[in-house]
Amino acid sequence: MARIYSTVSNKGGAGKTTLVTLIAGEYALRGERVLLIDADPRLNLSGWWKLCRSKDNVPDNISVTIAASRRTIEAEIARLGQEFDLIIIDAPGVDSTIQETIIGSSELVLSPVQPGIKEIEAAGQTVAAVNQFNDRAGANIRHLNIRTRITLPARNLEAYRYVRPFVAGLREAGYQTALLDTELFERNVYREIQNGLGTLQMQPLTDPVKKARYEVQSLVDEIESKRPGEPIAAKDVAA
Ligand SMILES: Nc1ncnc2c1ncn2[C@@H]1O[C@H](COP(=O)(O)OP(=O)(O)OP(=O)(O)O)[C@@H](O)[C@H]1O
Ligand SMILES: [Mg+2]
Repeated sequence: MARIYSTVSNKGGAGKTTLVTLIAGEYALRGERVLLIDADPRLNLSGWWKLCRSKDNVPDNISVTIAASRRTIEAEIARLGQEFDLIIIDAPGVDSTIQETIIGSSELVLSPVQPGIKEIEAAGQTVAAVNQFNDRAGANIRHLNIRTRITLPARNLEAYRYVRPFVAGLREAGYQTALLDTELFERNVYREIQNGLGTLQMQPLTDPVKKARYEVQSLVDEIESKRPGEPIAAKDVAA
């Protein structure tokens, strides 16, 4: 049965769909069969996929399906779970009733966090939702925060500097969550691939693409080191 991850943030435009396509390409390159479930009725992820198909840029090892209700998400997981190694569910950017289904289906919930107060608050809401689900269902779903759209000037912003203490505060309050060290920078190539260019990993290896590829490789390595089966590093416990 495939392991299931999801990208969740109530903040529209937080970077969920971009994160899905970036890591999906990396997992696919590592030989995993990846199914992406577009659970956002605005169909951004499947729109990208459609463009990729029309431009003959369909990546190997990746498939995309649409399922935007509790019933269809559960049905797609049951129907396709054996055929794939990894399923990633892209959640809508609003607090919707299917959020609980998406969280409850996942072993790992990823929240992209831009250096902005609304994005940080939305990540906090997702932390609460995951922890509530765990408490209620006796589950052990992990939550990870991933900083995205980072620029060098943005690192001076108060909101950027607030992310780490915010996550540390949640942990001190007893919530299970973690902040990844790897950040996604603001990069043109991350935007450009949305125009049907396939995955990041299919782009010609220019210097900017090499940097982006390195960033996403580190991200996937770090995500895999924090899966539920993996022991929590001492530094995370202390953070
Ligand atoms: N690291 C990044 N570098 C450059 N552009 C980015 C990055 N992350 C996201 N974007 C851009 O920001 C916009 C919003 O990103 P995205 O669609 O991934 O967010 P989302 O959370 O899925 O939004 P929604 O809530 O509408 O589904 C897009 O135009 C995307 O190309
Ligand atoms: Mg989206």
